[in-house]
Amino acid sequence: MFNHPNIMQLSAISQPDPCVFVIFGASGDLTKRLLIPSLFNLYTDNLLPENFAVLGLSRDVYSTASFREKMSLDIDKHSRRDDFNQDDWASFCANVHYLQGKFDDAQTFQNLQQFLNAFHGRHNTEGNVLFYMATPPPIAALVSQGLASVRLNQEDQGWRRIIVEKPFGTDLASAKQLNKTLLTYWKESQIYRIDHYLGKEAVQNLIAFRFANGMFEPLWNHTHIDHIQITANEQIGVEWRGNYYDKAGVVRDMIQNHLFQMMAYLCMEPPTSFDAEAIRNEKHKLLNTVRILKHEEVATHAVRGQYGAGFNPDGTPAKAYRDEPHIAPDSNTETFAAIKLRIDNWRWDGLPVYLRSGKGMSRKSTEIVVQFKQAPDFTFRGTPAAEQLEANQLIFRIQPKEGIELHFLAKRPGPSMNLRKVNMRFEYDEAFVSQPGTGYETMLYDCMRGDASLFSRSDLVETSWRIVQPILDVWHKEKATHFPNYPFGSWGPKASFELLTPRDKRRWPTRSSKQALRKIPMFEDSDEAMLSAFSSMLKSVVFDAGDQIVDAQSQAHELFIIRIGEVEVRNKQGKVLKTLQQGDIFGELSLFSTKQLDTNTYAKTYCALYTMSKRDFCRVLMDNPSFTEHMKQIARDRYDIIVDDHDWAESAETQST
Ligand code: BG6
Repeated sequence: MFNHPNIMQLSAISQPDPCVFVIFGASGDLTKRLLIPSLFNLYTDNLLPENFAVLGLSRDVYSTASFREKMSLDIDKHSRRDDFNQDDWASFCANVHYLQGKFDDAQTFQNLQQFLNAFHGRHNTEGNVLFYMATPPPIAALVSQGLASVRLNQEDQGWRRIIVEKPFGTDLASAKQLNKTLLTYWKESQIYRIDHYLGKEAVQNLIAFRFANGMFEPLWNHTHIDHIQITANEQIGVEWRGNYYDKAGVVRDMIQNHLFQMMAYLCMEPPTSFDAEAIRNEKHKLLNTVRILKHEEVATHAVRGQYGAGFNPDGTPAKAYRDEPHIAPDSNTETFAAIKLRIDNWRWDGLPVYLRSGKGMSRKSTEIVVQFKQAPDFTFRGTPAAEQLEANQLIFRIQPKEGIELHFLAKRPGPSMNLRKVNMRFEYDEAFVSQPGTGYETMLYDCMRGDASLFSRSDLVETSWRIVQPILDVWHKEKATHFPNYPFGSWGPKASFELLTPRDKRRWPTRSSKQALRKIPMFEDSDEAMLSAFSSMLKSVVFDAGDQIVDAQSQAHELFIIRIGEVEVRNKQGKVLKTLQQGDIFGELSLFSTKQLDTNTYAKTYCALYTMSKRDFCRVLMDNPSFTEHMKQIARDRYDIIVDDHDWAESAETQST
């Protein structure tokens, strides 16, 4: 059947068994965006069996020819590979077939059975069939029954497997019911519950990183680690998926599955082997040790948000969630959530794990921060370094730019013991050559080979639901009265920052933003190294409309850069003196002098701000004497201020706040 483009690679990698790949819901979005492109990527990489075919099934009217035409148009839009080859596509596409049918009609399954019987005979697919449920969960249950009614679940002639998409159920009760229904007709070993995050190289690398590098495992516990943060933010909104999403929300859509899977990989005990059951046992054990929130704890441990109108990255207006297609105008569905969980086992002893995910955020970013405990300061007492200690961070960047970073402290050159945070960085695309995938390739390939390590087991899925159930219950009962509470394209609700700061005296990481600094006149002449040094000192803060940012009574010691929103500067009588916009800065005078302010500053709208404290600003300057002179000149020329050297030196050594 298939004529493989690159036979050379085959010797090294085992090929799956011959099989037919049946897609229920083949006219839908998942098929064109992910399934067909992934199968074609596997084909291009010689990872499909020679005797292989795709059979699309849905209620929509297509012939095999017109379905192939549709797939050919779609692949142009959705293939992410730069080695796309039209001839290879034509030969792949020649093995794509289509069957029309309704999933609640017994005839559909009889037709399917006849088709498959004839097909196996003609094409040596040995009776092996993989059924992919690219359908909502209740339909998956219906289809699995339909297949069983014509004995397509029986493995007397070849293997039969089903792949079920997430979310697996909509809560604990429905997940249990779905498991029960599926397990009535299928054995657990035939059911592959898919979570495409486990197909991502950088997620699989979590296991390699932890268990292939002996140096980290001894540190991987509550004695050395302070807390863990897992973020999966998306820049896009709900797009065309309102029908599904408005009933789901981000806890069901992302946290219960993708984020929990990453947490399990990161925190589980070492499995005894790479055997599917060994890995899944450890993941299950880990999820089982997550402390279940009491209903009254939900308010303090979980934050929800929904995006309002805002701006796309190109500056064009973006709709509020409630104005998106198929969304109820008074929808209470959360498009953002941040949750603090604790792991109760010997290794982690209640260690906090902060999870956060949202749509309509300023950028797409999936990353994990492992923050170690800060070193004790006694060795450094009597030196400036005692006040400069910071915790080490190990950061796994999952997407968009996969890599790993280790932040640690180094001595600043010079006669005294001064420290500064520096960074060791590994980037996937510098170390390895690979083609971008969808995350589904590995999953589909593994399923065809009968390797279930990357798929969820029934107990795992139910345990994940058990963890989020109190949050779902409380949020269902107590409607959010403050939605929308963050604009599209922003950093999410203010409350998600408060979950960590000041409550737990921790912070979400700030993405270093040289971009924001570059536009500011006082940094205009900074070279790349200086910009990197300054931008590593930026912290992110969020204010809601009406919040006071700087108080005239206080002695200001921070520079602010407006990333999103508008800020009003008012005199002590409350008169608005000026309104500052995105890209503007304020507070810079406080970096140069210790003068008391005579103005108050308020957030006019939701504001996402970068801040840099005078201490951090001075610490960068102390490392760069020539730039210090340059800054003094800026203070003189631009602000008419003569900087006191002692003031800057002392500020650099003050304790962090
Ligand atoms: C899916 C969710 O599982 O994951 C989507 O249903 C989300 O809402 C997507 O957009 C994110 O996947 P990725 O791979 O782009 O991070």
